[in-house]
Amino acid sequence: MNEFVTRSLDEVRFWSRIMKEHSLFLKLGFRCEDTQLIQEANGFYSIFEQIEAKSHQYNVNTDPQKIREFNVEVYNAAVHIWVFKRKVLGLIINCKLPGGNNFPLLVDHTSREANYFRNRLTELNNGQLEPLHDAIIDENVFFLKIMADHAKFIGHLLDPSERKLVDQAREFSNDFDNLLWQAQDLSSMRPQSQSQPLLSQFLDQNRVSVVSLRDFKKTARDLIEACRIKSIIHPLLADHVYREAERFLEIIDMFENHLKGKRPSDFDYNSLH
Ligand SMILES: [Fe+2]
Ligand SMILES: [Fe+2]
Repeated sequence: MNEFVTRSLDEVRFWSRIMKEHSLFLKLGFRCEDTQLIQEANGFYSIFEQIEAKSHQYNVNTDPQKIREFNVEVYNAAVHIWVFKRKVLGLIINCKLPGGNNFPLLVDHTSREANYFRNRLTELNNGQLEPLHDAIIDENVFFLKIMADHAKFIGHLLDPSERKLVDQAREFSNDFDNLLWQAQDLSSMRPQSQSQPLLSQFLDQNRVSVVSLRDFKKTARDLIEACRIKSIIHPLLADHVYREAERFLEIIDMFENHLKGKRPSDFDYNSLH
């Protein structure tokens, strides 16, 4: 039960901060006259800010039943922000917000992250966990797409005059598109593809690219914070995508350890998936 509490708090702390920041990014991309949407975004910001604060008041000794109820509350908030993001996506795609600065792919991307968070909370509360070999493929398909999107956002939000960095971002975008296709190939070859050597190689290959994208994001974040490059990337967005790459790396490492049969005591696979 302690593991359930630990895993729940870890997921909620990570993703509620992410959801809070999405609310800010969406707000910054709306037009001044979109006051209703700005208000809604502000509302989500404070909801997830409160959830984040509450998650830090709980600890490993909190009653699991209390955490179960908290997870339901967070689940509802995740569902609502997902609905909001899909509504905004519809407005942008149907040209109802001309001149706004939220890319449709970015809004869709943040809605996929909300959906992932929601599913994670359901799995935690139901105790219904995906088998390891399925989780390895599904989590990688999800996160490779996330990483490929990040590379595209960075490439489009850098100033076009930052030619070298824009080229690098495009290379990462191609690299992750290819990795995503490979992951989907592996997925369609299930269950035959789910052998230990193939899955292990899959994780190794993905890790190499995620490490280099993570380093690129870290450099970009530091350059943006120090105002050394030209872009319209908010410093918090640069840090946000860096943290998401770190999260993916932690998940890859955890899978690798489980495949090798090493089960670190503080990171139990079964309570994550
Ligand atoms: Fe995000
Ligand atoms: Fe993201």
